[in-house]
Amino acid sequence: MRAVAVFPAKREVRMIDHPEPEIASPGQAKMRVLDVGVCGTDREIISFHYGTPPEGYEYLIIGHESLSEVVEVGPGASKVKPGDLVVMTVRRPCPDPRCIACRKGRQDFCYTGGFTERGIKQQHGFMTEFVVEEEGYLNVVPSELRDVAVLVEPLTIAEKSLEQLWMVQQRLPWISAAGPDQPPGAGHRAIVLGAGPVGLLGAMALSIAGFEVTVYSRSRTHDEKNDIVSAIGARYIAAETHSPEEMAKIAGPIDVVYEAVGASAVAFEVIKHLGPNGVFIFTGVPGRKGPIEVDTDYIMQDVVLCNQVILGSVNAPPHCFQAAIRDLGRFVREWPAAVRALITARYPLDQALEPLAIDAGGIKNVVAVAS
Ligand code: BGC
Ligand code: ZN
Repeated sequence: MRAVAVFPAKREVRMIDHPEPEIASPGQAKMRVLDVGVCGTDREIISFHYGTPPEGYEYLIIGHESLSEVVEVGPGASKVKPGDLVVMTVRRPCPDPRCIACRKGRQDFCYTGGFTERGIKQQHGFMTEFVVEEEGYLNVVPSELRDVAVLVEPLTIAEKSLEQLWMVQQRLPWISAAGPDQPPGAGHRAIVLGAGPVGLLGAMALSIAGFEVTVYSRSRTHDEKNDIVSAIGARYIAAETHSPEEMAKIAGPIDVVYEAVGASAVAFEVIKHLGPNGVFIFTGVPGRKGPIEVDTDYIMQDVVLCNQVILGSVNAPPHCFQAAIRDLGRFVREWPAAVRALITARYPLDQALEPLAIDAGGIKNVVAVAS
């Protein structure tokens, strides 16, 4: 079968012929891949900054944001059946018996670094025609979400971040202050840094959670992003015309920052404007561009005197995939056009290298492997 693979040692990315996988243990299922989303992580991998082939291979099949259809199940699989649409989780546990995170199925918090990730670290990914996986890593998606379910994985980043946020803010009377029939973010202000897919999906999740949301972004396509942000009832501020300070003045005291740009300079500028008891959530992985000047005394003073929390979040467990599937359904009901506008274009597998190009414009580009 065809697959898009990166050969890090040879610095090559190309279509390869890879053996079609078959079910090898009773709890597995075999899937036909439908859609694969392309993200910044894939671009880092095909530029050879990131990504590791599985042991014994000189190449890694890329792709970790997926939607596929079950075509066959092993005799021990009871959660899925042929015809089901599924989204697969990305990370698999490390083998260390002392890793309490992985042993509890929370490899998103792996201590050892020995975890693997499909399409990223030592496990082949989904940009190919068929995949086989243990059914425990599959999340069933309702068929109404067929067109947009490739957005589930990038939305899980916001779902895990929000879960962390609720845990942290249990220290405050947030929930009771919002009132019993109010969503938990009601009365609070959130800033989203970046208007890529992770940022815009995060803005939708924060908006559904009741926050007053402002998206702050640098972009070549402000109009398109502004339309989506306005449709979800949020405010859009362009970074080219407003400094972080001006943005913070307009947005008001900031309770939460959801960082989705992967650029540390702007993130550390915005940290200075975090409000009392605020939480700053980092989700982006910046490329190393060399040191920058940061006003550390100012930031440290505020973190202490204002009870602030700076928190990083990576990857997501199955229950955050379930939450993402539920919330994506809500987004589609509330803002159908805005959700559809997140998907810029679909490319056939043979043209998969086009959306992987660094300058591929738009929001989310998708490789449509099968229909
Ligand atoms: C993926 C995560 C993964 C992370 C680090 C992200 O693009 O969405 O699942 O853990 O990269 O490899
Ligand atoms: Zn581990």
